[in-house]
Amino acid sequence: MIAILPAARLPLWNDKDNRLRCIAVRVETDDVRTFVFAPETPACFHYLPGQFLTLELPIAGRTVLRTYTLSSSPSRPYSVSVTVKAQPGSIGTRWMFDCLRPGDLLSASGPRGDFTYAPHHRRRALFVSAGSGVTPSISAIRFLSDCAPGAQVDVITCTRTRGDRLFVDELAVLSRQMPDLRVAFLVEAEQGRLDLARLSALSPDFLTREIFCCGPGGFMRHVQDMLATAGFDMAHYHQESFQPDADPVPPPASDAGPVSVVFTASGVTVSASRDQTVLEIARAAGIDIETSCAAGLCGTCLTLKTAGNVEMRHKGGISQDEIDEGYILACCARPLGDLGIEA
Ligand code: FES
Repeated sequence: MIAILPAARLPLWNDKDNRLRCIAVRVETDDVRTFVFAPETPACFHYLPGQFLTLELPIAGRTVLRTYTLSSSPSRPYSVSVTVKAQPGSIGTRWMFDCLRPGDLLSASGPRGDFTYAPHHRRRALFVSAGSGVTPSISAIRFLSDCAPGAQVDVITCTRTRGDRLFVDELAVLSRQMPDLRVAFLVEAEQGRLDLARLSALSPDFLTREIFCCGPGGFMRHVQDMLATAGFDMAHYHQESFQPDADPVPPPASDAGPVSVVFTASGVTVSASRDQTVLEIARAAGIDIETSCAAGLCGTCLTLKTAGNVEMRHKGGISQDEIDEGYILACCARPLGDLGIEA
């Protein structure tokens, strides 16, 4: 019997001085596993469904940072889980599959991120996902099953093959517990791609729902196009992906001259182009700033700006409070003039 204090008597998990212990590894499909973590010293987790965690993986003598959406529910605060797919050529996820076992300890930071249904107020929601993009949906549905089982939720989860489907049995159980939860699995190899006719058939009132989309960039663009064609109010559309865009928005063209960037902790000053990110400038100068998503999402590259101004297009990886305190995300901040950076 394990002695566990009620959550009300536990401190909140703090990523600065409390590591995570892997307590379970679950095989979901041939190439997807769920890793479950508990605090090394007793604590409970506090987060919103849809937020993510950045794990520090000790691979070949160095620390590799990887960001994963939590698949667990904050209504079960003793542990967190991530459900990850081993992509071909992946380093971090491959290491987790091959090396991470129950009992192992990892450092991590987070949870953070603003891809969560929680602050939105349309009464009905639709979660659309492709592949392992179902993880924020399952976090939200688990949460709702515990806290609001009467919630009106539609789920459409697309996979290439039948064997790629995730959480099939659990979603069937949750559908019985939640009378207004409708779950549809769309297997593209058998049924074709999600289109407007299928969307309307699977979620007839989708125009009145808050829509959350997660998957590869191409899938999310396809969903956005469909919704725009249907006249959906895009103020009620939200999306997240940790995969870099195939065609990222180029930086604004600048014909202004180079800037001077001082890295105060390293004592290095360089001349740089305004088109470069602070991360690119630092790397060219041989200065190490930790990164993970490289897309303004995860907050790993949070760095203090001690002077000057930047142009920053982030995706939720930094809070307004942090910006007000002078922090930037190095991966998506470009100098508007001379800069001082604490790195
Ligand atoms: S590396 Fe993720 S926000 Fe910069």
